[in-house]
Amino acid sequence: MALTGLVLAGFVLGHMSGNLLMFKGPAAINEYAKWLHDHAGLLWVARLTLILSVVAHIWVGIQLTLENRAARAGGPADEATRRASTASRTMPYSGVVILAFIVFHLLHFTFRTVALGGMTFGDDVHAMVVAGFSSKPVAVFYIVSMLLLCLHLSHGVSSVFQTLGLRNERWRSRLDGLALAYGWIIALGFISLPLAVLTGCLK
Ligand code: HEM
Repeated sequence: MALTGLVLAGFVLGHMSGNLLMFKGPAAINEYAKWLHDHAGLLWVARLTLILSVVAHIWVGIQLTLENRAARAGGPADEATRRASTASRTMPYSGVVILAFIVFHLLHFTFRTVALGGMTFGDDVHAMVVAGFSSKPVAVFYIVSMLLLCLHLSHGVSSVFQTLGLRNERWRSRLDGLALAYGWIIALGFISLPLAVLTGCLK
């Protein structure tokens, strides 16, 4: 879980940072997208790593959820379960919504087959993103999904510290704070785009 989680947490940081180029104007984001597409070899290595990580992450996540359920079955919730945070207890649910979001997102901006009203954009990623978030329900779906991503990341990143054996009594609260901050930075960075389009700041 930790290794695949780290790959995915790293990907969202890279993707979110790249997306912020939207605020620099059409040329900046479009050149960045073109650079990525021009480096097909690199792009496909990243894509394959991502696909493998997502599949393995879901597979191990399901096993972990089933093991947790079996361990609790019949008996009263043990002390550890009762003490677990909302983020921890809702990992399977936030995970499922994020997965649904990714499917929608790929159909939306990569395959461009849904929610864009049949418009074509060529290589103009800037125009596509602005058009994509001009639909209020779509923008709201992105924002809600990013908030769940924040919840998922805040627990996920703190679990990575746990796996690495760093989350001892002395460091626990500081590392949990760091994980929460990471979740919020990623979520707010992503949310800034649909929010900027909804409020007319990004045209
Ligand atoms: C406001 C939020 C987001 C925006 C505006 C955004 C924008 C985009 C755009 C424009 C593309 C297509 C790039 C191109 O084909 O040139 C893309 C691809 C992608 N996005 Fe996002 N994204 C957002 C959030 C996310 C999140 C949260 C995830 C994952 C949890 C994600 C995962 C992906 C993936 C896997 C691809 C496909 C990359 C590839 O081509 O292989 N995106 N995104």
